Amino acid sequence: MTHRLAVLISGSGTNLQAIMAAIDSGRLNAEIAVVLSNRADAGGLSRARHAGIATEVLDHRQYDSREAFDQAMITALDHYQPGTVVLAGFMRILSPLFVRHYAGQLINIHPSLLPKYRGLHTHARALEAGDSQHGCSIHFVTEELDGGPLIAQAPLDVLANDTVDSLSKRVQQREHLLYPLVLQWRAEQRLELDHDGVKLDGKPLPEQGYQLV
Ligand code: GAR
Repeated sequence: MTHRLAVLISGSGTNLQAIMAAIDSGRLNAEIAVVLSNRADAGGLSRARHAGIATEVLDHRQYDSREAFDQAMITALDHYQPGTVVLAGFMRILSPLFVRHYAGQLINIHPSLLPKYRGLHTHARALEAGDSQHGCSIHFVTEELDGGPLIAQAPLDVLANDTVDSLSKRVQQREHLLYPLVLQWRAEQRLELDHDGVKLDGKPLPEQGYQLV
């Protein structure tokens, strides 16, 4: 059976678009079963609808608690039987309830070389610190925010004249290469999280994950 992805977004969905393009071109042997957003105005929703992909909108403001919202997402997503739940710019903190339900199936992309710069404003913080390298990371999601075991990173050099804008554009280009690659490993059942860490082809990955050159 083709590997089924559920992609969760809150914003413009350029990573979603990159995943769709990788599927169309045959680089990624998976199907997007559903795109779910917590915001009805997320640009990524129209990208999905345009391509005939099922969409779900759940507005977190309509729920009394984080757990109630997350339970509603679980109910909506399980209907599509996803093999991997893909966070692609989903800007909500997930409860332990959600994270445990999809343990080993839940993957996030984050715009920094983790463990540096968890949370927000990662490009500004890298520039502020004068870092010579920056990039993005993909990790399995655990209950620790942006703290789950690393799968892969795409580093890049920070240029002398970089701004938040220029840096975020280049990081996004790297994200668009890295996410389809990692998802193809999932589709081929080569990538898993077990009790002692992330394994690719049954072998442990280095602590920083696979490094894209
Ligand atoms: C991406 O750059 C992703 O790394 C970031 O949101 C952006 C979404 O862009 N995610 C986070 O900051 C998660 N903490 P997109 O909607 O164009 O794919």
